[in-house]
Amino acid sequence: MSSQLEKVQELIALRKEAALGGGQKAIDKQHERGKMTARERINQLLDEGSFEEYDMFVRHRCTNFGQEKKSFPGDGVVTGCGTIGGRLVYVFAQDFTVFGGSLSETMAQKICKIMDMAMKVGAPVIGLNDSGGARIQEGINALAGYAEIFQRNIMASGVIPQISAILGPCAGGAVYSPALTDFTIMAKGISYMFLTGPKVVKTVTGEDVTQEALGGAQVHSTKSGVAHFATENGEEAIELIKALVSFIPQNNLEEAPIYPCNDPVDRMDEALNEIIPEAANKAYDMYNVIGALVDNGQFLEVQRNFARNIIIGFARFNGRSVGIVANQPKYLAGVLDSNASRKAARFVRFCDCFNIPIVSLVDVPGFLPGTGQEYNGVILHGAKLLYAYGEATVPKVTVTLRKSYGGSHIVMSCKQLRGDLNYAWPSAEIAVMGGAGAVEVLYAKEAKDAEDPKAVLAEKEAEYNKLFCNPYNAAKYGYIDDVIEPKTTRFRIIRGLEQLATKRVQNPPKKHGNIPL
Ligand code: HXC
Repeated sequence: MSSQLEKVQELIALRKEAALGGGQKAIDKQHERGKMTARERINQLLDEGSFEEYDMFVRHRCTNFGQEKKSFPGDGVVTGCGTIGGRLVYVFAQDFTVFGGSLSETMAQKICKIMDMAMKVGAPVIGLNDSGGARIQEGINALAGYAEIFQRNIMASGVIPQISAILGPCAGGAVYSPALTDFTIMAKGISYMFLTGPKVVKTVTGEDVTQEALGGAQVHSTKSGVAHFATENGEEAIELIKALVSFIPQNNLEEAPIYPCNDPVDRMDEALNEIIPEAANKAYDMYNVIGALVDNGQFLEVQRNFARNIIIGFARFNGRSVGIVANQPKYLAGVLDSNASRKAARFVRFCDCFNIPIVSLVDVPGFLPGTGQEYNGVILHGAKLLYAYGEATVPKVTVTLRKSYGGSHIVMSCKQLRGDLNYAWPSAEIAVMGGAGAVEVLYAKEAKDAEDPKAVLAEKEAEYNKLFCNPYNAAKYGYIDDVIEPKTTRFRIIRGLEQLATKRVQNPPKKHGNIPL
């Protein structure tokens, strides 16, 4: 064998060794835990044969606690780039088979390298997290590594999309990298996220809590809102990343990809003309409206089980990505509260960062009253959504289906918040407040003095409803651009978005705004 061929053989052997991460025994253990290895995950995520790995031969430099005797090529993370549906992405997958995927100084350098590459070329970064946190033997160097990553997460925010999947432990300060990214996906049963684990919780607060109850996928996708998606397992999480990527552009200077659309743009759904119930306080399901409007009824919902009174997610109109924000009358009557406001606000800002038009479907009775909300800072949270809509410069199409009252009317992408096209259905009620509440304020004294107070209030309510609870009052002032037949909504939205494709609006130059956090 020539010496060159020997060297090639040596390379092949080294690559083979590196591909085994922490070794076959550790891989078997990973499978026993119900988890895929880092490389298996990357293979599932990327187009076949597209993965280009970097830094396969990197090893840690730590000599504390005899670490020099224990090192693995690649050092706990697999990094590189590849394509999803032919589009470039950068990826890192923490390798739990090497020191529990714990973050060393060199591992952080590997992650930072691909983040820097992604920023240079303008491509999304996808992080597959499965790690025991800072590599304890490396002390402060591991902490510095985390901080280097966080700084890059911050600089990349709004420039390239960042997606995190949590496919194992993610604890301590490590949670902040996913939290800084645009979307966090957690796989049920194998993942958890918390700042301090159950043992520390017990010591500090005396509370007994399991890992799952403290920071499992269920908790973060329903109670805290930290996770945008909870999937049944790791494989489903990776499929979800692919679906998500299909809706978003490569970076803030590009548009989302356009897909061929076989759903007729002028498809009319007769059912929409009758979907609003006769009784004003009766609910209908906003999912049915979304399904009837978007291409092929396909909707990728974000944060489905958190603040269900508002629905957010991605869909397409004539093949073009949009972000949908819709009140859900079926849940808490579609009221806006703290959680619904912050959920929708973050989504609106994501869409605005990445040139994705926003379609808002409005049926909102107002903000949820009470001390629970006020003590929770609903003023600030509501202001977040107001701010997000008001600063957004992407095309904004708003359709009011039924209620749109008071402050919540303004917040939900009204004309004066630079709504580009504001349509209303004939069933819309755009007013300062609902009829019953309004007449109680205006006619309380008159009703009290009357023989039949109820009859007085009912008569005044009917008068108020006739005068104010319709779309024409707003249309009279041009606050609504047109009152449309519900079944034509899909066509009107598509035509509107086509008009707005060349929209050019810029906010005044500033360092950055001061959104009420
Ligand atoms: C070094 C670690 C490690 C760590 C795990 N390992 N975590 N090595 N540093 N942080 C090693 C284990 O020693 C073990 O090595 C292998 O990884 C697998 O771990 P197991 O414990 O056998 O696995 P499992 O039973 O599944 O438990 C996983 C775990 C547990 C829950 C993650 O390992 C654990 O509690 N680790 C410590 C978590 C932690 O406290 N991290 C530091 C948090 S502070 P061998 O050689 O036996 O296979 C922090 C600060 C970050 O992260 C701040 C950022 C700003």
